[in-house]
Amino acid sequence: MAPVASAMPAPANGVHSQEVEESPALPAVAAKKMDPSLKFLIYGRTGWLGGLLGKLCEKQGIPYEYGSGRLENRSSLEADVAAVKPTHVFNAAGVTGRPNVDWCESHKVETIRANVVGTLTLADVCKQNGLIMMNFATGCIFEYDEKHPLGSGIGFKEEDTPNFAGSYYSKTKAMVEDLLREFDNVCTLRVRMPISSDLQNPRNFISKIVRYQKIVDIPNSMTILDELLPISIEMAKRNLTGIWNFTNPGVVSHNEIMEMYKEYIDPELSWVNFTIEEQAKVIVAARSNNEMDASKLAKEFPEMLGIKESLIKFVFAPNRKTKAASK
Ligand SMILES: NC(=O)c1ccc[n+]([C@@H]2O[C@H](COP(=O)([O-])OP(=O)(O)OC[C@H]3O[C@@H](n4cnc5c(N)ncnc54)[C@H](OP(=O)(O)O)[C@@H]3O)[C@@H](O)[C@H]2O)c1
Repeated sequence: MAPVASAMPAPANGVHSQEVEESPALPAVAAKKMDPSLKFLIYGRTGWLGGLLGKLCEKQGIPYEYGSGRLENRSSLEADVAAVKPTHVFNAAGVTGRPNVDWCESHKVETIRANVVGTLTLADVCKQNGLIMMNFATGCIFEYDEKHPLGSGIGFKEEDTPNFAGSYYSKTKAMVEDLLREFDNVCTLRVRMPISSDLQNPRNFISKIVRYQKIVDIPNSMTILDELLPISIEMAKRNLTGIWNFTNPGVVSHNEIMEMYKEYIDPELSWVNFTIEEQAKVIVAARSNNEMDASKLAKEFPEMLGIKESLIKFVFAPNRKTKAASK
């Protein structure tokens, strides 16, 4: 009997096997052929990216299970690998801070434990088991500088040395990225200011800036998850490794996104801008602003959209609440 995907929710233990036996009780529409050549082990079940990855696997018929181990606990990771026997491991786990990265400034040891010790431990367990680890990292390790000035169109490349350590979160992410370079089984995906079509999600960059009292207005590279998370799965299938700027090509500014929001969602939206200096007074740690050079990813995936086109296609058009202007 061919295994099929089910729409059953994940059990409380966090392990969700997608290979359930075909059941006559399941409606035909729920049946989907599973790909027997793949089995993903995903860390970050309760997180934003990890949750979306599981949903994508279900949609694409890829068998997966969530890891139940903690990243810094080597034996728990080894037990997960032994039990799941994955073909690939996705690491979408780590501390990002709640309500934001400022948390990491006052929780440095916890930040090191998960993001440095934990990430390295998982990479090493994968290495010892001959597995590729798709690692969701960050591009917030760069900031505009003289060689990459704002508005120049010159983005930071994969081989550039991080120049932003204004927050403890970014500092440790840059350190671990450097160490991970030595692991030939790791695919580092530098995510930035992730955006998804779920505008209710408080982690979404758009939901954040829409509810802030004041926002800066700086062009940045960003990651449209609806378009790029499926690309991360394709990258695993292609067994790609190394460092990748994982952003849509080009930049978009805060005000440009607010203008799109006005056009597609709420014509009444208004906002107040403030400067980086004024912003610094209401946050603990500095935030990075940069343009990433996405040409390596675009060469591998030529169909990938530029950031503004992707925002409209994957985020604003599906959420449109206003009437489209007649031509
Ligand atoms: N969201 C962003 O703005 C952003 C931007 C760039 C890059 N990234 C990176 O992308 C990755 C995923 O981000 P996200 O936004 O999905 O994060 P998230 O929503 O904060 O989720 C983090 C996940 O990691 C798990 N976790 C934390 N510490 C762990 C540990 N020691 N062992 C095992 N699991 C642990 C959490 O589980 P528990 O709740 O059980 O601890 C949770 O499932 C992170 O590495 C993040 O740095 C995120």
